[in-house]
Amino acid sequence: MNYAHVSVLLKEAVEALVPQRGGIFVDCTAGGGGHSEEILRHTPHGARLISLDQDERAVLRCRQRLAAYGTASTVVKANFAAVGDVLDGLGIQKIDGILWDLGVSSVQLDEAERGFSYMMDAPLDMRMDRSSGKTAADIVNTYSEEELYRIIRDYGEEWFSKRIASAIVEKRSDGPIETTQQLAELVTSVIPPASRHKENQHPARRTFQALRIEVNGELQVIEPSLQAAVERLRPGGRAAVITFHSLEDRIVKQVFGKMASPCECPPNFPVCTCGKKPIVTRITKKPIVPSDAEILENPRARSAKLRVVEKI
Ligand SMILES: C[S@@+](CC[C@H](N)C(=O)[O-])C[C@H]1O[C@@H](n2cnc3c(N)ncnc32)[C@H](O)[C@@H]1O
Repeated sequence: MNYAHVSVLLKEAVEALVPQRGGIFVDCTAGGGGHSEEILRHTPHGARLISLDQDERAVLRCRQRLAAYGTASTVVKANFAAVGDVLDGLGIQKIDGILWDLGVSSVQLDEAERGFSYMMDAPLDMRMDRSSGKTAADIVNTYSEEELYRIIRDYGEEWFSKRIASAIVEKRSDGPIETTQQLAELVTSVIPPASRHKENQHPARRTFQALRIEVNGELQVIEPSLQAAVERLRPGGRAAVITFHSLEDRIVKQVFGKMASPCECPPNFPVCTCGKKPIVTRITKKPIVPSDAEILENPRARSAKLRVVEKI
């Protein structure tokens, strides 16, 4: 069967979890099931993998792909913010390894009607979980100019966020902005020609990234899920996270940093008096990044970073 999503840092991420030790593993972002299958291929008999995705279609696809692994594989539709509840529901207290491969999959981007892509015309939706929540159209047509500016600036790291927010508010006074093409054309029209194709990227790329992050609350769920998961790890268990932009990576770096070095005593104190002890050690002092060969084969991998910690 042909799966359109090419898994990023597949070997590196799965090796980091040391699945051959056996035990219970969790893939928080099942997607096309690439990492999930690789974990299952390396676990011994009796091990178990719980795969989560908030996208119903990804869950169905992943279940099909992993069916051959029988009871070793369980695929659940859930937001990874609720990973603790999912494990409770399955009667699992402790786990041995957990993985996040953040963001959207190529399959989601390629399904035009999902509205993630500025390359294909579709209603502005962008929800990974289509059973609830506001769409990108709701945001574009109801948020204040100030809110749009903040989102496009902070989540898109877009230099022209002020102009774009103002153009959106002006345009929607003539009627709602409903499609990806309407938005992509509007954004392109307000970006100065000389800046339009910088970095060989579409001028609307950053605005679309910003809206997608806001629609799916992508940044808010990272820290609570890292905390909940690391709490569940057995000593020696590993947590591995693949990020695709600096906003995600900053959160992961900070959360893992605090877990590894929580002491709050002033640096000149001879001994620690705050009593906060590390709960993990950093396996990757610097993040692992894809090889040139991987980037050549899969350009989507170019911004990926893998960070790994081990529970003490
Ligand atoms: C980059 S893809 C994962 C690809 C997968 N590792 C593979 O090799 O096929 C990310 C997936 O995570 C899912 N996802 C993103 N945020 C999520 C969240 N908060 N909870 C659950 N799933 C999420 C998306 O729906 C998407 O299917």
